[in-house]
Amino acid sequence: MEIKNICCIGAGYVGGPTMTMIAAKCPHIKVNVVDINENRIAAWNDENATHIPIYEPGLPELVGQTRGKNLFFSTDVNAAIQEADMIFISVNTPTKTYGEGKGMAADLKYIELCARQIAAVATSDKIIVEKSTLPVRTAEALRSILDNTGNGVHFDILSNPEFLAEGTAVTDLLNPDRVLIGGEHTEKGKKAQQALVEVYANWVPREHILTTNVWSAELSKLTANAFLAQRVSSINAISELCEVTEADVNEVARAIGADSRIGSKFLKASVGFGGSCFQKDILNLVYISQTYGLQEVADYWEQVIIMNDHQKRRFAKNIVKTLFNTVSGKKIALLGWSFKKDTNDTRESAAIYVADYLLKEQAEVVVYDPKVTAEQIYSDLNYLGTRSDTENRSLLTVVNDPMDAVKKAHATAILTEWDEFKKYDWQSIYDHMLKPAFLFDGRMLLDQELLKGIGFEVYTTGKG
Ligand SMILES: NC(=O)c1ccc[n+]([C@@H]2O[C@H](COP(=O)([O-])OP(=O)(O)OC[C@H]3O[C@@H](n4cnc5c(N)ncnc54)[C@H](O)[C@@H]3O)[C@@H](O)[C@H]2O)c1
Repeated sequence: MEIKNICCIGAGYVGGPTMTMIAAKCPHIKVNVVDINENRIAAWNDENATHIPIYEPGLPELVGQTRGKNLFFSTDVNAAIQEADMIFISVNTPTKTYGEGKGMAADLKYIELCARQIAAVATSDKIIVEKSTLPVRTAEALRSILDNTGNGVHFDILSNPEFLAEGTAVTDLLNPDRVLIGGEHTEKGKKAQQALVEVYANWVPREHILTTNVWSAELSKLTANAFLAQRVSSINAISELCEVTEADVNEVARAIGADSRIGSKFLKASVGFGGSCFQKDILNLVYISQTYGLQEVADYWEQVIIMNDHQKRRFAKNIVKTLFNTVSGKKIALLGWSFKKDTNDTRESAAIYVADYLLKEQAEVVVYDPKVTAEQIYSDLNYLGTRSDTENRSLLTVVNDPMDAVKKAHATAILTEWDEFKKYDWQSIYDHMLKPAFLFDGRMLLDQELLKGIGFEVYTTGKG
């Protein structure tokens, strides 16, 4: 079966870039990306491709090449479902904020709504692809909804989790380490799986396309994120030990990373991991384990989150302690708000928690980030619910020029590893700050010796 028309429900950080890549590499396939968020779709359709709603290096160029040719963004979900041979579901699956499993389980309401809409609208057979990260065995629920509420058409369900990392989405999609496609072991299921293999085979070497059963594919995505986050929490745990023993976590990371069984990636100590996926997916894994009565498995993975929360709090506490145990009325500059460089995504960013802690201590917080808007920053803080929007706006200021952030500041904290921070004139920043000038490098981005030479009092995670 050859796929000629693809629909993707959800035009977010995953749906947007993945579908753009499919459109770019498969000119014979028409790709419709649909979303209920009108503003988001309008931004994807902005004449100027640099105004697309997510910041991702290389993406505007790719969108510019394909949009209007075989790539379309629209809010007409029903029409796109009707036309498609294959439908990707790429909607958000946040942690539940209510009811059973609150604070841990994945909220599948958006997934279920998609399934019901597909079932109601489809009048021809469709292949449904789970692109969102989902708890293991979600395909079972999808099948039940599709089969029981549909118009008697046949649905095949595949799991094709996405492994791209924000900030490097384009290169990750162009050269993926692997593409994973889980399918059902029926005749039709195998054909559907093969149809998706053929889509990716337009640019991904076949030996990088792995096929498994649906449950393995669903569980592999949660497992991959749990393992990655575990590395961060592991090195962060060691960073605290380094601080009290005069070991240097960078040196430890280099030494253990040289072991080919361990490998050098994801061993950078920091203020903690953020992003929309790690925490939510591990909590989900913990919840699933609990549901199956596997308490030890749940406890094991939960510790990764506990360590990360501890690391963020420890970093914020250390700012207060270093500034003579009080930051009340003191200006503190935060450089970076996104959860990592090269993305404007701020979900679960460590910066939100550090800022909240400092605001509780009545600090005067000033934030600069090259890609995040002031509205996003206030919305992130408001979401925590610690203070009202009016209070957040009066206590925290967002500036467009980093020099405005550091001017007369008692301390500067680097919370995102944006490359531009490395290029700053740190002597001039020092000159503009109050003395003693404290620098908290939460990403271990800068050359410590250089900063100390200028006169900064430097604090870096993981150094004695
Ligand atoms: N962000 C990442 O780096 C990443 C990586 C791999 C996997 N994932 C997974 O991919 C999924 C999507 O993540 P994201 O970051 O793209 O989320 P996102 O919030 O950026 O995008 C989801 C989009 O789905 C839309 N949507 C929700 N319900 C809808 C409906 N019924 N009909 C039409 N549109 C609807 C929302 O309006 C939103 O624009 C999640 O399950 C996530 O865990 C994310």
